Amino acid sequence: MTTKPHPTHLFVQEAYGAIARIGGGCGPQSSCCGGGRVEEVAQGVGYSVAELATLPEGVNLGLSCGNPTAMAELKAGEVVLDLGSGAGMDAFLAAQRVGPEGRVHGVDMTRDMIARARQNAAEFKRRTGLNNVVFHHGQIEEIPLPDASIDVVLSNCVLNLSPDQDSVWQEIARVLRPGGRVSISDMVLLRPIPEALQADVRALVGCIAGAALVDDLKAMVAAAGLIELTLTPKEGAVQAMIPTDDPMAAHLLGLLPEGTGPEDYIASLIIAARKPA
Ligand SMILES: C[S@@+](CC[C@H](N)C(=O)[O-])C[C@H]1O[C@@H](n2cnc3c(N)ncnc32)[C@H](O)[C@@H]1O
Repeated sequence: MTTKPHPTHLFVQEAYGAIARIGGGCGPQSSCCGGGRVEEVAQGVGYSVAELATLPEGVNLGLSCGNPTAMAELKAGEVVLDLGSGAGMDAFLAAQRVGPEGRVHGVDMTRDMIARARQNAAEFKRRTGLNNVVFHHGQIEEIPLPDASIDVVLSNCVLNLSPDQDSVWQEIARVLRPGGRVSISDMVLLRPIPEALQADVRALVGCIAGAALVDDLKAMVAAAGLIELTLTPKEGAVQAMIPTDDPMAAHLLGLLPEGTGPEDYIASLIIAARKPA
């Protein structure tokens, strides 16, 4: 990894490193997750019971906000990149869809997540016979892969954690082959969040404070040269992700103006787009 870490990177690495070491659910610093109800959260954001059953134990850490792989229409033989791959959840689902002729690259900047994902890859291979997933340590603002090498970019609840989302979109466009496509789940702001929430670093790791406004997202995608953008809300995902008995979630919800709820500010979207052929 060559990029100098931003303070946000260090904070995110610390929080997600702790989650990787615990091996599921949220630590005291919490995350974009539902407080340890990993199965419930995963199903609430769009994964089927059948899909989840294909994954080795410890792959689903309850950190997702949608199911971008299901929306990506992956084909056998395609080369896929999962940005912020965590313990490998979407990478392993994609690997089954692209099959032995295809390949899936996961990129994550948190060393403990990469270590966990690589362990999971060994168990995934033992179960499925597939050896088509590779995990790279690196930042999504400087993707460690060559130009025009990827058919499909996936990501799940990660872009909102980046302090430089413009660069992430430029990098996505760089690594995509002409005609390549994007299927990304992320938390996106419908309107600006209250200042108190913006100032609370826990809201960043809770996938709120770093979320882009819808119009800013559209501008970044267009500036990267990607076309045919569609934004599809995943109904019920925000509610599924909010832990019911977590002090941090209660604290963050308490910072919202009276009479408003999280769904007034934030949505889980599937962001689809394409690089011109
Ligand atoms: C909310 S978790 C999602 C993990 C995975 N996508 C999933 O759905 O299970 C965010 C992951 O993105 C990684 N991450 C956050 N910001 C990143 C960045 N700028 N570059 C690389 N990885 C990043 C974190 O280390 C963490 O593993």
